[in-house]
Formats: sequence, structure tokens, C-alpha cells
Amino acid sequence: MSTPEVRPAPVSVPQLGRMKAEGRRISMLTCYDATFAFAMDRAGVDTVLVGDSLGMVVQGHDSTLPVTVDHIVYHSAAVARGLSRALLVADMPFLSYATPGRALDAARRLMAEGGAAMVKLEGAGPMLVVIAALAARDVPVCAHLGLTPQSVMKLGGFRVQGREAAAAQRLREDARAVQQAGAALLVLECVPRTLAAQITTELEIPVIGIGAGAGCDGQVLVMHDLLGLRGRHRTPRFVKDFLVGADGVEAAFAAYVAAVREGRFPAEEHGFD
Ligand code: KIV
Repeated sequence: MSTPEVRPAPVSVPQLGRMKAEGRRISMLTCYDATFAFAMDRAGVDTVLVGDSLGMVVQGHDSTLPVTVDHIVYHSAAVARGLSRALLVADMPFLSYATPGRALDAARRLMAEGGAAMVKLEGAGPMLVVIAALAARDVPVCAHLGLTPQSVMKLGGFRVQGREAAAAQRLREDARAVQQAGAALLVLECVPRTLAAQITTELEIPVIGIGAGAGCDGQVLVMHDLLGLRGRHRTPRFVKDFLVGADGVEAAFAAYVAAVREGRFPAEEHGFD
């Protein structure tokens, strides 16, 4: 007689807050299809992000701007079918959340059709009313600050943010503001490690870093980077190839989860001053 498989309970939004409070680091990876999602789930990845990095690593564009709500819904639904434990976060594409009304429509599609448990959007300032509108309708929101790839045309490239004192101060204020508006999670991308650690300490909500040092509550990487896949784009220095020395893709995901949990990734060389 075979014993029934015991499935771990799905990760919930409140659980992420408890993980921060208990000092347990959160692992996040981007994912775009069901098979990789299944492997990530088995490897113990806590949160899976259908990022609009899809535009670059899957569709072959030079930026995330061409990604649409339809694209994210399609990939999110596929990823959802591969998951049983990890929390699914879906990115809101460029200008799909320019007004609270548009954001609510997009979030409805990402959650109802795409199976997401949380939506992610970039920026503070004019986005605060959008975050508040979503949160007021019980849509869990992940904010994204620092290097915000949807602003690449304005920023003039993919660059570290918050190095000057005034920019660092603005980032700290923006982080507090997105929390105040109702965000339940924050991704900080390409921010000096000391600033990211300071923001992490100042906020009650968990902070997930990418190129933001080891002082965050968790880490996220683009799946292709973690697997050492080189496309047309330059590999950022905060990336580590976890396939090196691992016995296959699922083992590479498990090695990443263990390294994040134990505080071994990111190392000093993956961060910025
Ligand atoms: O789109 C994406 O993959 C992201 C991560 C880099 C955080 O936003």
C-alpha cells in the first residue's frame, strides 16, 4: 500500500510577515512556465514571481516595456498549474496600473485568470494612490523600488540607484510611503547594501533584495541568471550561477534556497557600495 504524499501548506501573504518577524529569510525566483514552477516548488522556493523580465529573457526584447497584461496572465496561469506551496506573485506590466481603475482591472485578471496571490508594481509617488486602491480591495501588493526597469528610458539604463545622499534619503522615504499605502512586500533592486539593510530594518513589511546585499529579509533572482543562461544581455554582477556544482536544475534551485536561508547568498562580491 502506498502512503499518501504529505503536501506542505501553501505559503500565505501573512506568513511572509511572520518569516520576517522570526528572522527566516524568504527565497523568491522568477518563473514563466509550469515545469520550472513544479521544480521550484519541490525545491522549497517560497515565492515565485512571474516577472515582466519575461520581455527580456523569454521574448528577447531589450526592455520589459513591450510586455502586456495578456502575456503575464498567460504565463502566470501556466506557472500556477506547477505550484502547490510557493506563493505566486505576478508583475503588473508597464502602464497597466497608470490609474487606480486600470490597476484594479489588471489585478483582477492577474489574480482571477492568472492565479496570482499578489501583484507587483514599480514606483512610489503617483503610485501610492494605486497601491492604496488595490490594498483597500484586498489585493496584496508587492512594491518595487530602486532600479525600476519600467523606468529604463527615464533612468538612461540599468544602473545602481540611491548612491547619492539625497537619492538615498528619497528611497528611504519612498519605502516608508509604499508600506504606509498598504504594500505587503517590497522588492529593492540594485541599491547599495548599507542603504538596503537600513530600509529593511526601518520597515515592518519584508524586503526582498536583488543586487541589494545580504541585509534584506529575502532574495530574488531571475531564473535564467541562476541557471547561468546567457542571452544577448550583459549578466549583472549580483548574479550567481547555482547550476555549477549542482546535480541538475531542481538541485540548483534547492542550493539557492539553502544559500538564501543560511545567509550565504548574496556574498560580498554580489553587492554594491
Ligand atoms: O521582472 C522581474 O523579473 C523582476 C525581478 C527582477 C524582481 O521584477
